[in-house]
Amino acid sequence: MDRILVTGGTGYIGSHTVVELQQAGYPVVIIDDLSNSNREVIDGIERITGIRPDFVEGDCTDMQTLSKLFADYPDIKGIINFAASKAVGESMHKPILYYRNNLNTLLNLLDLMGPNGVKGIVFSSSCTVYGEPDENPVTEKAPIKKATSPYGNTKQISEEIITDVINAGAPFKSVILRYFNPVGAHPSAEIGELPNGVPQNLIPYLTQTAIGIRQELSVFGNDYDTPDGSCIRDYINVVDLAKAHVIAVKRMLENKSDAKIEIFNLGTGNGVSVLELINVFEEATGVKVPHKIVGRRAGDIEKVWANPTYANEVLGWKATSTLADTMRSAWAWQLKLRERGVM
Ligand code: WQD
Repeated sequence: MDRILVTGGTGYIGSHTVVELQQAGYPVVIIDDLSNSNREVIDGIERITGIRPDFVEGDCTDMQTLSKLFADYPDIKGIINFAASKAVGESMHKPILYYRNNLNTLLNLLDLMGPNGVKGIVFSSSCTVYGEPDENPVTEKAPIKKATSPYGNTKQISEEIITDVINAGAPFKSVILRYFNPVGAHPSAEIGELPNGVPQNLIPYLTQTAIGIRQELSVFGNDYDTPDGSCIRDYINVVDLAKAHVIAVKRMLENKSDAKIEIFNLGTGNGVSVLELINVFEEATGVKVPHKIVGRRAGDIEKVWANPTYANEVLGWKATSTLADTMRSAWAWQLKLRERGVM
């Protein structure tokens, strides 16, 4: 089987994708600079699959490091690129770090793919590129809106870079996957979302509040134009999301499409509000989440959820987990972290 390079493979979505790749029979090599993850994730992956993925600690913005990686692994035929800084708020304060890390990583990979016979790259993009959509649910044809953060802008620019490089005749393909809101953890509770410091994303903050690490969850606004006033998102189970990556890489390596570039929205198609999500968590786990309504968070989109029909029909992929099961998986992971004394 062709080997798959997973950049950022010890991260949240990367680690879940490595598990699915291994279980689909693909040999994997991970490169990660461990700036927002740790080596223990490799142990967790091995406990799930029984296969320890090859791991290279390294910075993908360093061309020497990446060149050596391809020399050491000449059987790399596909890449899934997760390696990126991804906190919207942080990107507002550290734009140079975000542009340098996210764009130089991609440029280095694209530069090395041709000479090393790599057939394709799956790119981790985001529904952020749609900004505040004119209508929901959002299809891949929805207009790209001006990014409201350097993070979101790096996703838009990266998509444009990939398009320009491939249209210039590069000898490889790309599948661009636009995620909605990835949530939950592997059902084994061996891997999950492990943010450094105070979580920015909703679910880690919610489960840390439920377990008592955080005192109270702040709900950022209930005066939006939505049924209960809180923001609406499309929360997609991270394992469902990971499975889509395996389908995408297989599609590329087996040349199942004539298109050199394909773009897919990966969501459930269901819009859920913050307050609804808190209720789903409480009912699914029996655990209360102390919360209060506070002011809006700058930059928040009011409502965005996917029309996943294109991915359903073309990839033959569909998100199947229930939100209740997904919330239970997030809670089981939080309990495991306490059991391990991690937090
Ligand atoms: C979800 C909802 C908040 C925290 C971002 C990026 C996206 C992707 C996922 C990387 C919003 C509300 C949150 C809290 C809250 N990033 N919220 N209290 O902003 O939709 O998406 O993260 O891949 O690209 O844009 O995710 O989890 O931060 O927020 O009320 O303590 O929860 O207002 O409505 P977001 P989020």
